[in-house]
Amino acid sequence: MTTLVLGGAGYIGSHMVDLLLQEQRDVVVVDNLLTGHRKAVPAGVPFYEVDIRDKDAMRQIFRDEKIDQVVHFAASSIVPESMKDPLKYFDNNTAGMIALLEVMLEFNVKQIVFSSTAATYGTPEESPISETTPQNPINPYGESKLQMEHIMKWADEAYGLKWVALRYFNVAGAKADGSIGEDHPVETHLVPIILQTALGEREKIMMFGDDYNTPDGFNVRDYVHVMDLVKAHILALDYLAEGKASNQFNLGSANGYSVKQMVEAARQATGQAIPAEIGPRRAGDPDSLVAASDKARSILNWQPEYESVEEIIKTAWTWHQKHPKGYEDR
Ligand code: UFG
Repeated sequence: MTTLVLGGAGYIGSHMVDLLLQEQRDVVVVDNLLTGHRKAVPAGVPFYEVDIRDKDAMRQIFRDEKIDQVVHFAASSIVPESMKDPLKYFDNNTAGMIALLEVMLEFNVKQIVFSSTAATYGTPEESPISETTPQNPINPYGESKLQMEHIMKWADEAYGLKWVALRYFNVAGAKADGSIGEDHPVETHLVPIILQTALGEREKIMMFGDDYNTPDGFNVRDYVHVMDLVKAHILALDYLAEGKASNQFNLGSANGYSVKQMVEAARQATGQAIPAEIGPRRAGDPDSLVAASDKARSILNWQPEYESVEEIIKTAWTWHQKHPKGYEDR
Protein backbone atom coordinates (compact mmCIF):
# COMPACT_ATOMS: atom_id res chain seq x y z
CA MET A 1 0.00 0.00 0.00
CA THR A 2 1.33 3.43 -0.94
CA THR A 3 0.02 6.46 0.94
CA LEU A 4 0.11 9.88 -0.70
CA VAL A 5 0.50 12.55 2.00
CA LEU A 6 -0.63 15.96 0.77
CA GLY A 7 0.89 18.72 2.89
CA GLY A 8 3.47 16.26 4.21
CA ALA A 9 6.06 18.99 4.85
CA GLY A 10 3.75 20.85 7.24
CA TYR A 11 3.47 20.52 11.00
CA ILE A 12 0.96 17.68 11.20
CA GLY A 13 1.82 16.17 7.80
CA SER A 14 5.50 15.74 8.74
CA HIS A 15 4.52 13.84 11.89
CA MET A 16 2.25 11.66 9.75
CA VAL A 17 5.10 10.90 7.34
CA ASP A 18 7.32 10.04 10.31
CA LEU A 19 4.79 7.55 11.71
CA LEU A 20 4.09 5.96 8.30
CA LEU A 21 7.85 5.42 7.88
CA GLN A 22 8.13 3.99 11.40
CA GLU A 23 5.42 1.52 10.35
CA GLN A 24 7.44 0.63 7.21
CA ARG A 25 4.71 1.92 4.90
CA ASP A 26 5.41 3.35 1.44
CA VAL A 27 4.96 7.12 1.40
CA VAL A 28 4.86 9.79 -1.30
CA VAL A 29 4.76 13.46 -0.26
CA VAL A 30 3.27 16.46 -2.06
CA ASP A 31 3.65 19.97 -0.62
CA ASN A 32 3.73 23.40 -2.27
CA LEU A 33 6.13 24.56 0.50
CA LEU A 34 4.18 27.79 1.05
CA THR A 35 4.02 26.99 4.75
CA GLY A 36 5.77 23.60 4.86
CA HIS A 37 9.50 22.86 5.11
CA ARG A 38 11.50 20.62 2.81
CA LYS A 39 13.71 19.75 5.80
CA ALA A 40 10.71 18.31 7.67
CA VAL A 41 10.58 15.39 5.18
CA PRO A 42 13.41 12.84 5.32
CA ALA A 43 15.65 12.58 2.26
CA GLY A 44 14.78 9.41 0.37
CA VAL A 45 11.01 9.87 0.60
CA PRO A 46 9.60 10.69 -2.86
CA PHE A 47 8.83 14.42 -2.64
CA TYR A 48 6.99 16.66 -5.12
CA GLU A 49 6.85 20.43 -4.73
CA VAL A 50 3.40 20.75 -6.23
CA ASP A 51 0.19 22.62 -5.45
CA ILE A 52 -2.81 20.27 -5.30
CA ARG A 53 -4.75 22.66 -7.54
CA ASP A 54 -2.24 21.98 -10.33
CA LYS A 55 -4.13 19.07 -11.86
CA ASP A 56 -1.58 18.29 -14.58
CA ALA A 57 1.25 17.99 -12.05
CA MET A 58 -0.97 15.90 -9.79
CA ARG A 59 -1.92 13.62 -12.70
CA GLN A 60 1.77 13.05 -13.38
CA ILE A 61 2.32 11.97 -9.75
CA PHE A 62 -0.62 9.55 -9.86
CA ARG A 63 0.75 8.19 -13.13
CA ASP A 64 4.31 7.73 -11.79
CA GLU A 65 3.58 6.49 -8.28
CA LYS A 66 1.16 3.71 -7.50
CA ILE A 67 -1.08 5.48 -5.01
CA ASP A 68 -3.60 3.47 -2.98
CA GLN A 69 -4.74 5.96 -0.35
CA VAL A 70 -4.56 9.70 0.18
CA VAL A 71 -4.19 11.71 3.41
CA HIS A 72 -5.03 15.36 2.86
CA PHE A 73 -3.35 17.98 5.09
CA ALA A 74 -2.72 20.48 2.27
CA ALA A 75 -4.99 23.32 3.33
CA SER A 76 -4.86 26.77 4.87
CA SER A 77 -5.76 26.57 8.56
CA ILE A 78 -5.42 29.91 10.34
CA VAL A 79 -8.69 31.21 11.75
CA PRO A 80 -7.79 34.94 11.95
CA GLU A 81 -6.24 34.90 8.46
CA SER A 82 -9.44 33.38 7.08
CA MET A 83 -11.47 36.28 8.55
CA LYS A 84 -9.27 38.73 6.61
CA ASP A 85 -8.91 36.74 3.38
CA PRO A 86 -11.85 34.33 3.00
CA LEU A 87 -11.37 33.84 -0.76
CA LYS A 88 -7.91 32.37 -0.14
CA TYR A 89 -9.63 29.71 1.98
CA PHE A 90 -12.35 28.91 -0.53
CA ASP A 91 -9.73 28.68 -3.28
CA ASN A 92 -6.96 26.73 -1.55
CA ASN A 93 -9.26 24.55 0.57
CA THR A 94 -12.59 24.12 -1.20
CA ALA A 95 -11.43 24.41 -4.83
CA GLY A 96 -8.31 22.41 -3.90
CA MET A 97 -10.53 19.56 -2.75
CA ILE A 98 -12.52 19.55 -6.01
CA ALA A 99 -9.33 19.46 -8.11
CA LEU A 100 -7.90 16.68 -5.95
CA LEU A 101 -10.98 14.48 -6.11
CA GLU A 102 -11.22 14.90 -9.88
CA VAL A 103 -7.68 13.58 -10.28
CA MET A 104 -8.11 10.80 -7.68
CA LEU A 105 -11.23 9.57 -9.48
CA GLU A 106 -9.50 9.69 -12.89
CA PHE A 107 -6.97 7.23 -11.43
CA ASN A 108 -9.60 5.22 -9.57
CA VAL A 109 -8.12 6.06 -6.15
CA LYS A 110 -11.12 6.10 -3.85
CA GLN A 111 -9.89 6.30 -0.25
CA ILE A 112 -9.09 9.56 1.50
CA VAL A 113 -8.46 10.60 5.10
CA PHE A 114 -9.17 14.27 5.50
CA SER A 115 -8.18 16.91 8.10
CA SER A 116 -11.40 18.51 9.22
CA THR A 117 -11.75 20.70 12.26
CA ALA A 118 -13.60 21.66 15.41
CA ALA A 119 -14.06 25.01 13.65
CA THR A 120 -16.87 23.42 11.59
CA TYR A 121 -19.04 23.45 14.75
CA GLY A 122 -18.84 27.24 15.15
CA THR A 123 -20.18 28.21 18.57
CA PRO A 124 -21.31 24.70 19.47
CA GLU A 125 -24.83 24.01 20.69
CA GLU A 126 -23.54 21.54 23.28
CA SER A 127 -20.37 20.63 25.13
CA PRO A 128 -18.58 18.31 24.87
CA ILE A 129 -19.10 18.36 21.11
CA SER A 130 -20.09 15.07 19.49
CA GLU A 131 -20.01 14.20 15.79
CA THR A 132 -23.77 14.82 15.59
CA THR A 133 -23.57 18.33 17.12
CA PRO A 134 -24.85 20.72 14.38
CA GLN A 135 -22.09 22.28 12.27
CA ASN A 136 -22.52 26.06 11.94
CA PRO A 137 -19.09 27.59 11.34
CA ILE A 138 -18.42 31.20 12.41
CA ASN A 139 -15.28 31.75 10.34
CA PRO A 140 -14.38 31.15 6.66
CA TYR A 141 -11.80 28.53 7.63
CA GLY A 142 -14.43 26.37 9.35
CA GLU A 143 -16.84 27.04 6.48
CA SER A 144 -14.32 25.87 3.88
CA LYS A 145 -13.65 22.64 5.81
CA LEU A 146 -17.38 21.97 6.12
CA GLN A 147 -17.76 22.48 2.38
CA MET A 148 -14.93 19.98 1.84
CA GLU A 149 -16.73 17.42 4.04
CA HIS A 150 -19.93 17.95 2.01
CA ILE A 151 -18.08 17.61 -1.31
CA MET A 152 -16.70 14.24 -0.19
CA LYS A 153 -20.14 13.11 0.97
CA TRP A 154 -21.65 13.74 -2.46
CA ALA A 155 -18.61 12.22 -4.19
CA ASP A 156 -19.28 9.06 -2.18
CA GLU A 157 -22.96 9.04 -3.28
CA ALA A 158 -22.06 9.53 -6.92
CA TYR A 159 -18.70 7.82 -7.41
CA GLY A 160 -18.20 5.57 -4.38
CA LEU A 161 -15.37 7.68 -2.93
CA LYS A 162 -14.73 6.49 0.65
CA TRP A 163 -13.57 9.10 3.13
CA VAL A 164 -12.87 9.64 6.80
CA ALA A 165 -13.04 13.20 8.11
CA LEU A 166 -11.06 13.68 11.30
CA ARG A 167 -12.24 16.81 13.09
CA TYR A 168 -9.21 18.05 14.99
CA PHE A 169 -9.45 20.10 18.10
CA ASN A 170 -6.27 22.03 19.04
CA VAL A 171 -3.18 20.15 17.95
CA ALA A 172 0.06 20.78 19.85
CA GLY A 173 3.31 19.08 20.87
CA ALA A 174 6.02 17.47 18.78
CA LYS A 175 7.74 14.15 18.21
CA ALA A 176 9.35 13.29 21.56
CA ASP A 177 12.95 13.59 20.32
CA GLY A 178 12.31 17.16 19.14
CA SER A 179 13.55 16.43 15.60
CA ILE A 180 10.36 17.72 13.93
CA GLY A 181 7.84 20.22 15.27
CA GLU A 182 5.66 23.25 14.70
CA ASP A 183 7.12 26.10 12.61
CA HIS A 184 4.76 28.44 10.75
CA PRO A 185 6.00 31.39 8.64
CA VAL A 186 3.79 33.70 10.71
CA GLU A 187 3.05 32.06 14.04
CA THR A 188 -0.49 32.57 15.38
CA HIS A 189 -0.97 29.43 17.50
CA LEU A 190 -1.08 29.62 21.25
CA VAL A 191 1.41 26.91 22.29
CA PRO A 192 4.31 27.93 20.00
CA ILE A 193 3.77 31.60 20.89
CA ILE A 194 3.88 30.77 24.62
CA LEU A 195 7.06 28.73 24.16
CA GLN A 196 8.76 31.32 21.97
CA THR A 197 8.06 33.70 24.86
CA ALA A 198 9.53 31.18 27.31
CA LEU A 199 12.65 31.07 25.13
CA GLY A 200 12.95 34.86 25.09
CA GLU A 201 12.26 35.00 21.32
CA ARG A 202 9.16 37.11 22.13
CA GLU A 203 8.68 39.65 24.89
CA LYS A 204 5.27 38.48 26.10
CA ILE A 205 2.16 36.53 25.22
CA MET A 206 -1.06 38.48 24.64
CA MET A 207 -4.13 36.57 25.91
CA PHE A 208 -6.99 37.47 23.59
CA GLY A 209 -10.00 38.40 25.72
CA ASP A 210 -10.93 37.72 29.35
CA ASP A 211 -14.67 38.26 28.99
CA TYR A 212 -15.71 35.00 27.32
CA ASN A 213 -18.54 32.88 28.69
CA THR A 214 -16.18 30.40 30.39
CA PRO A 215 -15.26 29.77 34.07
CA ASP A 216 -12.26 32.16 34.11
CA GLY A 217 -13.34 34.35 31.17
CA PHE A 218 -10.58 33.10 28.81
CA ASN A 219 -11.17 31.00 25.67
CA VAL A 220 -11.29 27.27 26.32
CA ARG A 221 -9.80 24.75 23.87
CA ASP A 222 -9.17 21.01 23.86
CA TYR A 223 -5.50 20.18 23.18
CA VAL A 224 -4.45 16.91 21.51
CA HIS A 225 -0.89 15.69 20.95
CA VAL A 226 0.25 15.63 17.33
CA MET A 227 1.59 12.04 17.59
CA ASP A 228 -1.72 10.82 19.03
CA LEU A 229 -3.49 12.68 16.25
CA VAL A 230 -1.47 11.08 13.46
CA LYS A 231 -2.00 7.65 15.01
CA ALA A 232 -5.71 8.19 14.46
CA HIS A 233 -4.95 8.78 10.76
CA ILE A 234 -3.21 5.42 10.46
CA LEU A 235 -6.23 3.77 12.09
CA ALA A 236 -8.51 5.64 9.67
CA LEU A 237 -6.45 4.48 6.66
CA ASP A 238 -6.76 0.88 7.88
CA TYR A 239 -10.50 1.38 8.49
CA LEU A 240 -10.91 2.43 4.86
CA ALA A 241 -8.66 -0.38 3.59
CA GLU A 242 -11.04 -2.82 5.29
CA GLY A 243 -13.81 -1.50 3.02
CA LYS A 244 -15.78 0.26 5.73
CA ALA A 245 -18.23 3.12 5.19
CA SER A 246 -17.32 6.80 5.04
CA ASN A 247 -17.35 8.35 8.50
CA GLN A 248 -16.31 11.29 10.66
CA PHE A 249 -14.61 11.42 14.05
CA ASN A 250 -13.70 14.11 16.57
CA LEU A 251 -10.10 14.01 17.79
CA GLY A 252 -9.63 15.71 21.13
CA SER A 253 -9.05 14.81 24.76
CA ALA A 254 -12.46 15.77 26.23
CA ASN A 255 -10.60 18.18 28.56
CA GLY A 256 -10.84 21.91 28.09
CA TYR A 257 -8.10 24.35 29.13
CA SER A 258 -8.41 28.12 29.08
CA VAL A 259 -5.72 30.35 27.57
CA LYS A 260 -4.76 31.38 31.11
CA GLN A 261 -4.52 27.75 32.24
CA MET A 262 -2.30 27.00 29.22
CA VAL A 263 0.09 29.81 30.13
CA GLU A 264 0.19 28.48 33.71
CA ALA A 265 0.78 24.90 32.49
CA ALA A 266 3.64 26.13 30.28
CA ARG A 267 5.21 27.94 33.25
CA GLN A 268 5.13 24.61 35.12
CA ALA A 269 6.41 22.59 32.15
CA THR A 270 9.29 24.95 31.30
CA GLY A 271 10.17 26.52 34.66
CA GLN A 272 10.16 29.92 32.88
CA ALA A 273 8.26 33.06 33.97
CA ILE A 274 6.48 33.65 30.57
CA PRO A 275 5.18 37.23 30.81
CA ALA A 276 1.50 37.46 29.78
CA GLU A 277 -0.93 40.33 29.24
CA ILE A 278 -4.65 40.51 28.61
CA GLY A 279 -5.58 42.02 25.25
CA PRO A 280 -8.77 42.47 23.21
CA ARG A 281 -10.70 39.54 21.71
CA ARG A 282 -9.55 38.10 18.38
CA ALA A 283 -12.18 37.92 15.60
CA GLY A 284 -13.75 34.53 14.88
CA ASP A 285 -12.99 32.85 18.24
CA PRO A 286 -15.78 30.77 19.82
CA ASP A 287 -15.85 30.67 23.68
CA SER A 288 -15.16 27.00 24.12
CA LEU A 289 -14.37 23.96 21.94
CA VAL A 290 -14.17 20.62 23.76
CA ALA A 291 -14.47 17.25 22.03
CA ALA A 292 -16.30 14.10 22.88
CA SER A 293 -14.01 11.62 21.14
CA ASP A 294 -15.49 8.32 22.34
CA LYS A 295 -16.53 7.55 18.75
CA ALA A 296 -12.89 7.47 17.58
CA ARG A 297 -11.97 5.43 20.63
CA SER A 298 -14.69 2.83 20.07
CA ILE A 299 -14.83 2.53 16.26
CA LEU A 300 -11.19 3.26 15.32
CA ASN A 301 -9.84 1.88 18.61
CA TRP A 302 -7.93 5.15 19.08
CA GLN A 303 -5.98 5.26 22.33
CA PRO A 304 -4.25 8.59 22.87
CA GLU A 305 -1.10 8.35 25.01
CA TYR A 306 -0.65 11.95 26.13
CA GLU A 307 -3.10 12.76 28.87
CA SER A 308 -2.10 16.15 30.24
CA VAL A 309 -1.35 19.47 28.61
CA GLU A 310 1.88 19.67 30.62
CA GLU A 311 3.12 16.50 28.88
CA ILE A 312 2.06 17.90 25.49
CA ILE A 313 3.77 21.23 26.17
CA LYS A 314 6.96 19.47 27.32
CA THR A 315 7.39 17.75 23.93
CA ALA A 316 6.84 21.07 22.12
CA TRP A 317 9.37 22.66 24.51
CA THR A 318 12.00 20.07 23.49
CA TRP A 319 11.45 21.02 19.82
CA HIS A 320 11.59 24.78 20.49
CA GLN A 321 14.73 24.50 22.62
CA LYS A 322 16.47 22.47 19.91
CA HIS A 323 15.18 24.71 17.10
CA PRO A 324 14.66 28.24 18.48
CA LYS A 325 14.37 29.58 14.91
CA GLY A 326 12.42 26.59 13.58
CA TYR A 327 13.74 24.89 10.46
CA GLU A 328 15.57 28.10 9.41
CA ASP A 329 14.92 27.41 5.75
CA ARG A 330 13.28 30.68 4.78
N1 UFG B 1 -4.62 32.84 21.69
C1 UFG B 1 -4.20 33.87 22.52
N2 UFG B 1 -3.05 34.52 22.21
C2 UFG B 1 -2.26 34.19 21.13
C3 UFG B 1 -2.70 33.14 20.30
C4 UFG B 1 -3.88 32.49 20.60
O1 UFG B 1 -4.87 34.21 23.51
O2 UFG B 1 -1.23 34.84 20.91
C5 UFG B 1 -5.86 32.13 22.01
C6 UFG B 1 -6.89 32.19 20.92
O3 UFG B 1 -7.70 33.33 21.03
C7 UFG B 1 -7.67 30.89 21.16
C8 UFG B 1 -6.61 29.93 21.70
O4 UFG B 1 -5.53 30.77 22.16
O5 UFG B 1 -8.62 31.07 22.16
C9 UFG B 1 -6.10 28.98 20.68
O6 UFG B 1 -5.74 29.71 19.53
P1 UFG B 1 -4.93 29.10 18.33
O7 UFG B 1 -4.69 30.20 17.35
O8 UFG B 1 -3.76 28.34 18.86
O9 UFG B 1 -5.92 28.00 17.75
P2 UFG B 1 -7.44 28.15 17.24
O10 UFG B 1 -8.31 27.62 18.33
O11 UFG B 1 -7.75 29.49 16.70
O12 UFG B 1 -7.43 27.19 15.99
C10 UFG B 1 -6.81 25.93 16.04
C11 UFG B 1 -6.33 25.59 14.63
C12 UFG B 1 -7.50 25.45 13.72
C13 UFG B 1 -8.51 24.48 14.31
C14 UFG B 1 -8.89 24.87 15.70
C15 UFG B 1 -9.81 23.83 16.28
O13 UFG B 1 -5.47 26.63 14.14
O14 UFG B 1 -7.02 24.98 12.48
O15 UFG B 1 -7.72 24.98 16.50
O16 UFG B 1 -10.19 24.11 17.59
F1 UFG B 1 -9.62 24.49 13.58
